[in-house]
Amino acid sequence: MLGWYDRHRRDLPWRARPGEVADPYRVWLSEVMLQQTTVATVRPRFTAWVARWPDLASLAAADEAAVMAAWAGLGYYARARNLVRAARAIADEHGGVLPGEEAALRALPGFGDYTAAAVAAIAFGRRAVVVDANVSRVVARLRAMPVATPAAIRAATDAITPAARAGDFAQAMMDLGATICTPRNPRCLLCPLRAACAGFASGTPEAFPAKKAKRAKPQRFGTVFWLERGGEVLLVRRPDRGLLGGMRALPTGPWTDAMPGIEAAPIVADWHMLPATVAHGFTHFDLELALAVARVEGHVAAEGGEWWPVADLASAGLPTVFAKAARLLESDR
Ligand code: ADE
Repeated sequence: MLGWYDRHRRDLPWRARPGEVADPYRVWLSEVMLQQTTVATVRPRFTAWVARWPDLASLAAADEAAVMAAWAGLGYYARARNLVRAARAIADEHGGVLPGEEAALRALPGFGDYTAAAVAAIAFGRRAVVVDANVSRVVARLRAMPVATPAAIRAATDAITPAARAGDFAQAMMDLGATICTPRNPRCLLCPLRAACAGFASGTPEAFPAKKAKRAKPQRFGTVFWLERGGEVLLVRRPDRGLLGGMRALPTGPWTDAMPGIEAAPIVADWHMLPATVAHGFTHFDLELALAVARVEGHVAAEGGEWWPVADLASAGLPTVFAKAARLLESDR
């Protein structure tokens, strides 16, 4: 795997080139960004982020709201908040230097088993067992494990993780999973593990791991309110806790089992509904939002909200679901 990695590694902006030392801040940031998001999406976002906050000190000093807005579209906004919290904890408790030990990393905000292991291995060269979705699939095939618990996958990964270059090994497994040992149509003839692979030997490598029956996601409904006043639209900040916590948003009522009306409107106004709705899939449920529009004039008190220039909405850092709604609403104007 290490020989294959030396020849075929993907060139990614957070990776040290051969002979370079990895920058722990960049490794950490990339691992957090990559948790829900593809390499293709992360690449430009990562580059823009490090141009703005190039190191731990700048992130520790950053305005949390600006960081949250910069995360827009990357999902799971608690991770952005935890980046700032961890950067501050590192400044306060670790002299501004990321610790290299898995256990010390694990104690920082937002660091789970995966992130702590990945940063310890990739940024600090520690031996750590790094299991993400790609690694898990590669190992399940290598050992022909049709159904495997996370513990079994972890044990099988532990057994093949080398003492030296554990970070390169982890990234080699990730790259192999992304480019060769793909979920469908794995390209076994190009695979450096072919001779050792029990899945390949079985003749049906794709059968590993067995597909889980997908549970249908619950469907929820809501109304999003577009309140406009002379070229500005009312935005609110969502409560810190809960989905999209702390993010700037269009006002909505609660998300419920049946399509609501305008009962949760931010103010009494002449609301009218658009015929179109917005659909958005979250991890644990699908959401359909109806769109209510009203225009007002003069001074309107809308508690806890801010009026935002419609022409500059792109800079508000709206989460994807509200950006979708805004696009539809703007085309209706
Ligand atoms: N996915 C998550 N972390 C990664 C990394 N370091 N390289 C490639 N893909 C990844």
